[in-house]
Amino acid sequence: MLIRIPRPGDGPTSEITDESLYLRRRELMRAGALAAGMLLLPGCGRAATGDEEPGAGDGSATGDALTSFEDATSYNNFYEFGTGKKDPARNAHTLRTRPWTLEIGGECARPATLDVDALLAQQTVEERIYRLRCVEAWSMVIPWRGIPLAALLASVEPTSRAKFVAFRTLHDPEQMPGQKRRVLRWPYREGLRIDEAMHPLTLLATGMYGRDMPAQNGAPIRLVVPWKYGFKSIKSIVSIELVESQPPTSWNMSTPDEYGFYSNVNPRVDHPRWSQKRERRIGEWGKRDTLMFNGYAEEVGELYAGMDLRKNF
Ligand code: MTE
Repeated sequence: MLIRIPRPGDGPTSEITDESLYLRRRELMRAGALAAGMLLLPGCGRAATGDEEPGAGDGSATGDALTSFEDATSYNNFYEFGTGKKDPARNAHTLRTRPWTLEIGGECARPATLDVDALLAQQTVEERIYRLRCVEAWSMVIPWRGIPLAALLASVEPTSRAKFVAFRTLHDPEQMPGQKRRVLRWPYREGLRIDEAMHPLTLLATGMYGRDMPAQNGAPIRLVVPWKYGFKSIKSIVSIELVESQPPTSWNMSTPDEYGFYSNVNPRVDHPRWSQKRERRIGEWGKRDTLMFNGYAEEVGELYAGMDLRKNF
């Protein structure tokens, strides 16, 4: 995520997955899957039962290898902790993730103020492997843990006026020192159309690699919308509001000609300053083709039937 100077060439320290990490990763995956009774959605391959090893080290039925835990937690975008890729891992220890309260309100019959642990106790927690494609033309494949956003939204009973969902990150410059600099208008905001928010692929993630969410990845609760550019996946959420009109979003407010509301991964629509046709998978050499809707076209394509995706980028 960039303001004026593109840095898609920024690289992690290591491009190669260390073997011990790879083996540990597989153990973690097995443990996480067994604990949660691994359920993969159609986009991620077949439904797996608890006694299968998820993808034998693969990220999905497409054969994608998982990104190493090390890379996924040390090459981040979380501007509340600095704009460098390594800043969040270095600085996010100041975030206090418990107790943590999530407000859900707006156009609904049963608004709620929820403690994040109580929420997890109420809802079915699932493990899902999703690709995350950053607008900067790099990508990762991560085993997430979380609850479907649809289940949470249904529990507050949205009214017929709920057409969009607005999300907000914590605003506390003491805990999030990056908010003392005006690189974005704080707090970080994101939004989805209600059908996108209710889509079964949309996850409120509370962990990854079978562990609680690391602070730099958006603890204690973040969004993961795998068919959209990574910046839609807002971190450290404190508020979810059902609203009637399209809500303002941080990157769109900052640079509207570069970051639209929809932000669907689309190799046919370039960012004004660089191509979106290819991407660098973190931990791999070379580049690979970017897939329409990040490879989830079969699941989500119909949400955009009849829409001009060049206009609604
Ligand atoms: N959420 C907040 N609150 N602040 C941010 O700066 N960056 C976004 C998104 N969520 C961001 C955020 C961007 S640009 C990306 S690519 C993803 O988080 C990166 O997620 P990751 O660091 O877990 O890979």
